[in-house]
Amino acid sequence: MSRQMMPLPRAGQPESDAAALDARLRDDIRLLGRILGDTVRDQEGAAVFDLVERIRQTSIRFHRDEDKPARRELEAILDGMSTDETVLVVRAFSYFSHLANIAEDQNNIRQMRSQSLEGGARHEGVLAHTLACAREAGFSGAELQAFFDSALVSPVLTAHPTEVRRKSTIDREMEVAFLLDRRERMQLTPDEYEVSEEQLRRAVLTLWQTNLLRRTKLTVLDEVANGLSFYDYAFLREVPRLHCVLEDRLQDASADGASNEMASFLRIGSWIGGDRDGNPFVTADVMRGTLRMQASRVLRYYLDELHELGRELSLAADLTDVSPELRGLAERSADTSPHRRGEPYRLAVSGIYARLSATALKLKADTLRPPYGKAPPYASAAEFSADLDVLHRSLTQNNSEVIARGRLRHLRRAADCFGFHLACLDLRQNSTVHERTIAELLDAAVPGTSYLALSEEARIVVLLRELRSARPLTSPFITYSDETLGELAVFHAAAEAHEMFGPGAIPQCIISMSEGVSDLLEVALLLKEADLVDPTGHSAINIVPLFETIEDLQACAGIMDRLLSLPEYRALVDSRGGLQEVMLGYSDSNKDGGFVTSGWELYKAEIGLVEVFERHQVRLRLFHGRGGSVGRGGGPSYDAILAQPGGAVNGQIRITEQGEIISSKYSNAEVGRNNLEILAAATLEASLLQPRQSAPSLDYLDAMESLSSRAFAAYRNLVYETPGFEDYFWASTVINEISTLNIGSRPASRKKTRRIEDLRAIPWVFSWAQCRVMLPGWYGFGSAVESWIADHPDKGMAFLQELYGEWPFFRMLLSNMDMVLAKSSIAIASRYADLVPDVTLRETIFGRIRSEWHLTIDTLLAIMGQERLLAGNPLLERSIRNRFPYLDPLNHVQVELLKDHRAQGGDEQVLRGIQLTINGISAGLRNSG
Ligand code: PGA
Repeated sequence: MSRQMMPLPRAGQPESDAAALDARLRDDIRLLGRILGDTVRDQEGAAVFDLVERIRQTSIRFHRDEDKPARRELEAILDGMSTDETVLVVRAFSYFSHLANIAEDQNNIRQMRSQSLEGGARHEGVLAHTLACAREAGFSGAELQAFFDSALVSPVLTAHPTEVRRKSTIDREMEVAFLLDRRERMQLTPDEYEVSEEQLRRAVLTLWQTNLLRRTKLTVLDEVANGLSFYDYAFLREVPRLHCVLEDRLQDASADGASNEMASFLRIGSWIGGDRDGNPFVTADVMRGTLRMQASRVLRYYLDELHELGRELSLAADLTDVSPELRGLAERSADTSPHRRGEPYRLAVSGIYARLSATALKLKADTLRPPYGKAPPYASAAEFSADLDVLHRSLTQNNSEVIARGRLRHLRRAADCFGFHLACLDLRQNSTVHERTIAELLDAAVPGTSYLALSEEARIVVLLRELRSARPLTSPFITYSDETLGELAVFHAAAEAHEMFGPGAIPQCIISMSEGVSDLLEVALLLKEADLVDPTGHSAINIVPLFETIEDLQACAGIMDRLLSLPEYRALVDSRGGLQEVMLGYSDSNKDGGFVTSGWELYKAEIGLVEVFERHQVRLRLFHGRGGSVGRGGGPSYDAILAQPGGAVNGQIRITEQGEIISSKYSNAEVGRNNLEILAAATLEASLLQPRQSAPSLDYLDAMESLSSRAFAAYRNLVYETPGFEDYFWASTVINEISTLNIGSRPASRKKTRRIEDLRAIPWVFSWAQCRVMLPGWYGFGSAVESWIADHPDKGMAFLQELYGEWPFFRMLLSNMDMVLAKSSIAIASRYADLVPDVTLRETIFGRIRSEWHLTIDTLLAIMGQERLLAGNPLLERSIRNRFPYLDPLNHVQVELLKDHRAQGGDEQVLRGIQLTINGISAGLRNSG
């Protein structure tokens, strides 16, 4: 074991040199690789270790030049392995890639820190930089403050099943990350250094002996618990902290230095425990359980903070003045301890503590802290905040502002951001379920309605009539189906949640697969049954359509136009402060129309919506439903927000954070803060600085329209119009095996069919990623460009290059494609194609995929003016290159296992091996689908 001292970066001499950062990354990867290698050798013997090493070397040769002998050699090695050996090899490569990811994350943190040590506020995505730009553009401090007062930035955590790692694995990996970080930041003595290496070895050995796969299915409440851990890692502290930092910056910027407190604009949203679309396990009771768990977490946090605050605020009444209202609060305190007599702040804090612990009892929250004293519970989080404000005012009025700016300030901000509900939980259900529910209620209440047989227009008439009526639709004397009872119970539970926690607990109801006006009116009517909408036109919840097919995206502006013209619906919008949220689905539109068309139709839909909303003078808030991978709308959030058309951000944005993306963004406080900051900075920039730029010219829009329709035709032709494509897909990918992974509570598909149309977007994208084709992230682009250039020789490539240089939307589209293609490998993909038994089908379809892949890369590089993929993003290029030696072997093993599985049909051990490879490949790609 090394006893040498770890070199520390010297403060004030930041390391900006990419080569130095690179060297550190390599050191970390080597260190962890060495520890894992030692662990494998020690636990499984030298033969297994040597086998792993041989596979790695051969697969590097195969990757480098697709060399034939390497391919044969690899096949021979893999063929000769027993199933037990295969499982060990897969686990070793999986952990290599998990550990390399940790080293890479550490390197990103290092880079982030070195930029800010350089006084690097001048880089994009950092709020200080954006504020500086806004001031340069002429915005005053007061204007910026006003912007944030009406802003909303909300990452929304969902339980989409794409995180393949178990919580136990994530926990150990966070420990490894922590240890690496500590070795770097602290000056360790040789002894401490040795202890640290042993801790690393302990964590790696524990990982090695921990199951990578979950043996049982997750429940929804397990998912809730997993989601809540990110509040511990990041949100509870970082959300308040970001507000405090920003508030200080805005005050510095305001001419008179006036200390106005800014409104809280950052809200964490959640779908976990509220999203029922295709998940029968999310019921009213589960939703109640979710809210209780959320409340428990946040109240525990407040109680802990109050406990600390009570310890800190030992200020004596005879040494500092206090305000009369603080004195009153202290006098009302249930605390009679003689030790605290004469210490009014402590008395006041213990009074607040007692009320809060009574609140926890009332809300049935489990705070792990015993109830304290006798005191009435708070009726609302606002009452709790008001008491904290009393402390704040007394301190600031009596020359102790610096004390008020400590723990108390963060607690006040937390109370404002999280209330008693912690996260804003959205309801979500599929429009067809609402439709069936309404049909059953209406047919029972008004026999002969035959709601399902009515045309859209006739439905609207019936729904509006019912919305105006004071009479409820449901009757206690009618027996309804289980589905209808379940749906009604959810809306009643939402009303109950509003009573208990306030309306912020469940502010939105999302309607997936929205196709028309009636879809929204149906929900309004269901809400009315639970008194969340009343016949006078008041709504306690935002009704939010989710448009997610190409056709629905094309129709959505028209649908919203019609809705906002209906006085009954408009009244509901007005009762919500004149704001209407619209959600856009990135994954399903991609599956429906391909990458280029999905991106383009989303963009156009936004332009259409902005125009309609301006005409109706209603504020539009867009909610972007995107996954982690490019095929599901993923990509850097900052670029995505800035690539929105003018007027589409407008100070308010919600955006989903799903699966593995959640842990990569929010399991470390520093990284979490940075990601929240990126969202806030991009929102500010897109809202205030962007509209001043000119809208894209008609020429650009025309070209894009034409490219999109060509790409659409190419994509639809391959996926939906090629005979046998379905068979090719099911044979050449792990689609069947993905559904056997226990990575989420919801069933993998809605219907039991083999049709691509009926697949959920996640397994579709997931399986193309596993075989390294990544088809949903690029297919159709190459042939679209080729045929467009053939038809527009006058404009040609130079015009597309201009588009790339000038238009953020086009740039983002291409840079996401650049990223996804860099992770693809046509050589590896060819091995998966070999799994298709029908030779003609295999050659025809794989031949098309291969030639489109080459064409797409060639055209992409030509437009971007690059010689190779990711040439403009060396950091990512290196990072992906570092992963190949671990990733590729997993693919090779997966192919062999799939062959065995299909030949033997259903051997459990082999299936487990495949599941392990899926897990390892996802980790290596850093996103699964
Ligand atoms: P959904 O999500 O199937 O839950 O609508 C699709 C996705 O995010 O890929």
